[in-house]
Amino acid sequence: MPMDDVLVVYGSESNTAKTNIERIAKEWMARDGVNWKVCDVMEGNDAAALGLVHIASTYDAIVVATSSFRQGDAPANYDDFLEALYKGSVAMDPSGVRQVPLAGMQSAVLGFGDSRFDTYMNCPRLTDMLLEKCGTRRMAQRREIDVKLSKEDKATMMADWAEDVHGALQAKTKYSVPKVCEWTVPGNGQTFDKSLEYLPPPPPPEAAGPSPVVVVAALGAVLGVGYYCFA
Ligand SMILES: Cc1cc2nc3c(=O)[nH]c(=O)nc-3n(C[C@H](O)[C@H](O)[C@H](O)COP(=O)(O)O)c2cc1C
Repeated sequence: MPMDDVLVVYGSESNTAKTNIERIAKEWMARDGVNWKVCDVMEGNDAAALGLVHIASTYDAIVVATSSFRQGDAPANYDDFLEALYKGSVAMDPSGVRQVPLAGMQSAVLGFGDSRFDTYMNCPRLTDMLLEKCGTRRMAQRREIDVKLSKEDKATMMADWAEDVHGALQAKTKYSVPKVCEWTVPGNGQTFDKSLEYLPPPPPPEAAGPSPVVVVAALGAVLGVGYYCFA
């Protein structure tokens, strides 16, 4: 599938991710000879309202810039999208066949965070992992913009990421081409799972035998019959 139509999604509490991705999107579209387009830029909650299936049928690629807040949680304006990704990552049709709602799409994630938090980059990392589980092909390695970096280093990392994304889109790299890397790069896959906040708890394991209530009732019945017969 040619990569022409791109959806940009952001999650941002204090506008760092929002401002930067809006600037990058403008710069992409101002390049000479650009052969793809940013169709829409929206916060995660608005993207979630569209639904993953609608997103996959409308756009060829999805580019996400998000930060993390509280204990590695999604920013408030991105919470619904993280939930949609969690649900999409385990989606099944009524007959129990696994659904892959973003199959055919390509994706890239730009993360914002602060490495003084144990939950550093949690939401961007989860997003990158879940996008893949929902079926996207990673077209650019995630970059993680740490507030502790110098202004110059932040600018270089963002420019490198923007160049990677533009390169993949401009080259119309096919979905069938292997992803550029695992989501665990960078960060070694360190995350704090948030699935319990978004997915129903797994069913309890099947009991190996009859429940204790049934055993006690049966024992009582046997004793009762014994007493009646022999007393
Ligand atoms: C209360 C609070 C909680 C935060 N929690 C995290 C966190 O869990 N993980 C992380 O990497 N950064 C955390 N940060 C840092 C922000 O993600 C970082 O400043 C980011 O650049 C903000 O981007 P935004 O303005 O787009 O939301 C936190 C910041 C604040 C103020």
